[in-house]
Amino acid sequence: MISAEKIIVAVDTQKEEDFLRLLQAMRGHRVWVKVGMELYYTLGPKAIEAVKAQGFHLFLDLKLHDIPNTVEKSLSCLCQKPIDMVNVHAAGGAEMMKRAAEAVKNSTYSPLLIAVTQLTSTSEAQMNQEQKIPGSLLESVLHYAKLAQASGCDGVVCSPLEVEAVKKACGEKFKTITPGIRPQGADQQDQKRITTPLEALKLGSDYLVIGRPITGATDPRYALELILKGH
Ligand code: C5P
Repeated sequence: MISAEKIIVAVDTQKEEDFLRLLQAMRGHRVWVKVGMELYYTLGPKAIEAVKAQGFHLFLDLKLHDIPNTVEKSLSCLCQKPIDMVNVHAAGGAEMMKRAAEAVKNSTYSPLLIAVTQLTSTSEAQMNQEQKIPGSLLESVLHYAKLAQASGCDGVVCSPLEVEAVKKACGEKFKTITPGIRPQGADQQDQKRITTPLEALKLGSDYLVIGRPITGATDPRYALELILKGH
């Protein structure tokens, strides 16, 4: 059995009726709901209100990345809403993350502040050639994780395969939020490095981000319940 509180369901849609149908399908399970850019840019704060009205924990995944002042002010606005987790790009730098942490700490709801390290859609070759960051992807993820921790973040988004190294570098309490989760036999789609829910948990992941295996299923509630049973 997997605890529902470890599952973050990525509700990636622009259609309000699909969003509300998915919330209804998950009703009664204490899962987290991830509201990302496409949904937030369509529905705005209404999306937050709908998630909280049903009693779910909320991860607002807007991946902020701008000058420190803009990120601090933007987070001060966003954190007036009852969100439980929010994120920024570690590539924005230490000063940006420190100002983000201050904004979050001084806010009414004080959500967890999470930093995105290297996106799971970025390959090592892309990182080397396009970002001009030499070395391995893991080295870059660990560098960003340590920088995020020193700047006051509570954890990072990374691949389940990087969790062990992140925990070793930053300690057990530093949170790891991992996408790229696929139940046995599920379609891999565009995710490159995948693990099953149970494997991700064994690797030490704190929260599993799962989208299409639940939201794309004919019966999303049944798909979620199978995952909770350890499939
Ligand atoms: O549908 P799927 O399970 O692949 O959804 C994964 C979710 O996690 C998507 O909302 C995607 O934007 C997000 N994500 C990711 N890789 C990252 C950061 C976020 O897949 N590095």
